[in-house]
Amino acid sequence: MQRCLEQTSKLEALGTLASGIAHDFNTLLGVILGYAEMTEDLVSNDPVARENLQQILIATGRARDLVARILAFGRRDEKNAAPLRIADSLYECLAMLRPSLPPKVTLHAYIERLDLQVIGDANELQQIFMDLTVNAVHAMAEHGDIYYSIEAVTLNDDTRTDWPELATGDYVRFRIRDTGCGVPPHLVNRIFEPFFTTKDVGEGTGLGLSVVYGIVKRMKGAIRLNNSGQGADFEILCPRYEETEP
Ligand SMILES: Nc1ncnc2c1ncn2[C@@H]1O[C@H](COP(=O)(O)OP(=O)(O)O)[C@@H](O)[C@H]1O
Ligand SMILES: [Mg+2]
Repeated sequence: MQRCLEQTSKLEALGTLASGIAHDFNTLLGVILGYAEMTEDLVSNDPVARENLQQILIATGRARDLVARILAFGRRDEKNAAPLRIADSLYECLAMLRPSLPPKVTLHAYIERLDLQVIGDANELQQIFMDLTVNAVHAMAEHGDIYYSIEAVTLNDDTRTDWPELATGDYVRFRIRDTGCGVPPHLVNRIFEPFFTTKDVGEGTGLGLSVVYGIVKRMKGAIRLNNSGQGADFEILCPRYEETEP
């Protein structure tokens, strides 16, 4: 439990540090972008210079996307939080992703109750499903299975020991399990760190899981990786929202 809490505060410190750097970086990128755009007009009859500037603009655009993700990891505001039916959100996301997934990857969903709700930002919830699914697909060699489940769980004094950072109460559990390569035991403690990736440059940024971690934290939930079976098995608990009778 102590180790788990240490891990949590380490990630929080990293989040604060990363978003501080990202803010400054964003300002500098704005300057680069501004000057590159202004220079474009000056070199309109020099094709080589224009092509070079285009490359600068493309790379700067990519850097901006990256910075936006880092800022998402560290952000603490909850301005768009609303009750969300988590199953609807998952189905929407899977319908969107399905066409771009390898044909031999099969998605399975077990939804205990369609009406389970959590409080969060709709886009952020989608981001969670998206990042975790993309990781699962990356972990598989073109074919395999991804199992999703959504269930209601209640943490009491006995079951809470598995989730030291959560209080007792009613939660929604979201789980995603894949039949991919899994996470080697020595890396389990590092996967949620911003920029931690085992993928080649250009393939991974190491920001997927850190963004997911930040979103789950803002939803007052917790995430963990169960690393016992084959493949990876991520479990997220978020406080259950119950509509009060009118
Ligand atoms: N489903 C998974 N199966 C195996 N390894 C995973 C899975 N999800 C994440 N990982 C590991 O965690 C690392 C960090 O993931 P992430 O933060 O999404 O960054 P990225 O996908 O850009 O590498 C990955 O590089 C990979 O090593
Ligand atoms: Mg990823």
